Amino acid sequence: MKKKLIHIVGTRPNYIKLYPVYKSLEKDFDNIVIDTNQHYDDNMSKIFFSELGLPKCKYNLGIGSGSHGYQTGQMIEKIESLLIKENADGIIVYGDVNSSLSAAIAAVKLGIHIFHIEAGARSFDKNMPEEINRMIIDKISDINFCIQKTHIDNLEKEDIRNGVLVGNTMTDAVHLLQDRLKKPLEFKYYLCTLHRPFNVDSIEKLNKILNNLNSWSHKIIFPAHPRIKNKINKSFENIVFIEPLGYIDMLSHIKYSEGIISDSGGIQCETSILRRPLQTVRPSTEHTVTLKMNNRLVDLDTLHENNFYMTDYELPDIWDGTSSIKIKKILLNYEK
Ligand code: UD1
Repeated sequence: MKKKLIHIVGTRPNYIKLYPVYKSLEKDFDNIVIDTNQHYDDNMSKIFFSELGLPKCKYNLGIGSGSHGYQTGQMIEKIESLLIKENADGIIVYGDVNSSLSAAIAAVKLGIHIFHIEAGARSFDKNMPEEINRMIIDKISDINFCIQKTHIDNLEKEDIRNGVLVGNTMTDAVHLLQDRLKKPLEFKYYLCTLHRPFNVDSIEKLNKILNNLNSWSHKIIFPAHPRIKNKINKSFENIVFIEPLGYIDMLSHIKYSEGIISDSGGIQCETSILRRPLQTVRPSTEHTVTLKMNNRLVDLDTLHENNFYMTDYELPDIWDGTSSIKIKKILLNYEK
């Protein structure tokens, strides 16, 4: 009999990470997907299922937005009852969002095995809720699948010994989609995404960043996360705000841009894989390996059109597009 696995997702980056892993596990496991609906706008959620050919979720929890306490509390309660009902062999959680934390807490108390994809990343900045989420999820997971060796080292420093190096499932996703990427625009442009509370919750700070970008020599294409939509209170003639993009469009926009400005986690990996330079508007990063390749951390003073750089780098050998297959083999042989 096939083992039953429950994938818990809820945010845009989760759906993207689910894609290659689900495709790899599709035939050999009985897979169930629970969506917490932490992200609920269609262009932050549904679009990924349709364009990536993912199956309908068995359960949608309808949690939506709210404080961290509200979100995680609601999620733990609802996920717990589904885990009891489904009696699965294990759950898979992705990355560092509140949906992943909540699922891991619900599962560990029921004695259900937890498999964590993208484990061991550390920004060493506890002001980011994602850093707290990562530390807790890693501590209670049964297998921590890591994208790079330094993440295994991070875990070992915290006395967590179950890290396994499998590489970056994001590379698998890009490989699976590379033939579907197309040049989206005929002019030169930069691409910008910002959504972290420390960049966008203060209108004053956000305006400083946007005023800066407004003076650059190419248009800035800015797919706007819902978090900033009602914060843009004036027009910037050089910045073109658009709706959040689907994944194929996003990768296409990255691939053909002159450079990217972002505070995202995932985009740090995607720009490295697609070989485009990136300025990350954050004081720290959990993807330190990208700093040696194409990524530079910047702040309000150093964010500048001339501050992009890219070395003549090789991607880590382990980012070879087969991470999801490695994960499948390990899960097939897993006995506790
Ligand atoms: C979450 C993740 C972050 C990830 C990001 C990707 C946590 C702690 N953070 O941050 O790691 O990089 O997703 O986008 O889990 N909203 C909508 N429609 C939506 C989704 C959100 O209007 O479909 C609005 C709501 O007002 C909400 C706000 O955006 O309050 C922020 O959403 P939330 O899920 O709290 O966190 P993100 O900033 O998206």
